Amino acid sequence: MSRPPLVPTPPLWNLMQWIVQPLNFLERNRDRYGSCFSTRLAKLPPLTFFSDPAAIEQIFTTDQRQLESGRANRILLRMLGDNSLLLLDGDRHKQHRQWLMPPFHGERMRAYGELIQQLTASVTQSWSSESAFLVRPAMQSISLQVILRAVFGLTEGDRYQSLKQLLAALLDFSGSRLSFATNFFPILQRDFGAWSPGGKFDRLMQAINQLIYAEIADRRAAFDPTRSDILTLLLSARDEMGEAMSDEELRDELMTLLVAGHETTATALTWAMYWIHAIPTVKQKLLAELDQLSADADPGTIAKLPYLNAVCAETLRIYPVGFIAQLRIVQSPMEVAGYRFEPEDMLIPCIYLVHHRPDLYPEPNQFRPERFLERQFSPYEYLPFGGSNRRCIGAAFALFEMKLVLATILRQYELELDEPNPVKPVRRGVTIACDSPIHMKFVQNRQPTEDSSQVAMV
Ligand code: HEM
Repeated sequence: MSRPPLVPTPPLWNLMQWIVQPLNFLERNRDRYGSCFSTRLAKLPPLTFFSDPAAIEQIFTTDQRQLESGRANRILLRMLGDNSLLLLDGDRHKQHRQWLMPPFHGERMRAYGELIQQLTASVTQSWSSESAFLVRPAMQSISLQVILRAVFGLTEGDRYQSLKQLLAALLDFSGSRLSFATNFFPILQRDFGAWSPGGKFDRLMQAINQLIYAEIADRRAAFDPTRSDILTLLLSARDEMGEAMSDEELRDELMTLLVAGHETTATALTWAMYWIHAIPTVKQKLLAELDQLSADADPGTIAKLPYLNAVCAETLRIYPVGFIAQLRIVQSPMEVAGYRFEPEDMLIPCIYLVHHRPDLYPEPNQFRPERFLERQFSPYEYLPFGGSNRRCIGAAFALFEMKLVLATILRQYELELDEPNPVKPVRRGVTIACDSPIHMKFVQNRQPTEDSSQVAMV
């Protein structure tokens, strides 16, 4: 059995392309080598990208002991610690998923609906007096506050304010290309003083850790089982041996939820605001649907709206924030898509390339939410949250939050895009974000039109 085609350019050149222009890199190689190709980045073992749904299905349905991801995420160790879900494999990974999953689903998740609506209203209230504003900072502020309140259960106060500022600074810093590049050049991670990338990072982490450990200590000392935040649930979690989570485990998982949940949702919301306001028919149809809601519609009803759902789905299709799934490291020889793989080879389900297959998504570069109303896609054809035992634990929560934030804003304000040129995707850390913070103008407060029921829905 043969090996997949190997991109022949030098590993250092590939790495530069991967850091600076990852989507061009993927598209160029797909056009030359097809839906499965291997590449070398710096000194890493060969990485193989897949964009055929049949191959993705094979990877996601293989016995997961055969594929490990935790080791491939070592670059996150300095920020997340070695008890992070993202760095674990095997039984410990399974145990931590069991602890972390429940708060992000069902009734527990829906309990955060009103909080999300209130935070959105409060962050955006200045828009009506500011004629022009930027979308990204507002979306970041909303998603960070949602996480701080839902996950930590923090309420206004000094610790809340300090954590908010420090985390925003850390995530902004780690989103830069320079910071991403330090993962491949460890010398840049060393602390050469507060001005160096390594020094800046270490100082921020120290300050954040102090605050998180102080919160854990206070909450252990005055444990209140009636609270509904995720830290409370984790404090009462026990493994099969009856052991509770240690302070280090708690810190690492809280940090993981913050990092994995905040930037991703803020970026998805920023893209959604852009697309809705860039394409008049999309905005019209969405408003027609939202205007049919009663003034006091509850979060559960809003989350079920079909066109709103299609807009969110299309936002995560066209530029999936996580444009590749986590790397899967092969443990023993195996076959995927007719090719042979050896231990330590790295397999990557390439979300972006699957979402841009013209056989699944005709005119893939067009933003067209209707495609999600016209047909259903399998979990191997549409995978913005990855799959298998590594699928995003925050998927339902992120979609719920996106829908409530967008509905709250669109029902309240009439806004206009103020971007002279089309907005393009660029790397932001391990995600794909807009190359502009999205400039917008406030037009007026809006009221639902009286005959909104007459407007065609799709
Ligand atoms: C629109 C928002 C989001 C997107 C697009 C997204 C996307 C992803 C993707 C693609 C993965 C990798 C899955 C794989 O390798 O198969 C992932 C993993 C993960 N996500 Fe998300 N995510 C989002 C929001 C969130 C939120 C809100 C949280 C939690 C608060 C979260 C927590 C995680 C965690 C902990 C993992 C690692 C799971 C594991 O390794 O077992 N994500 N996410």
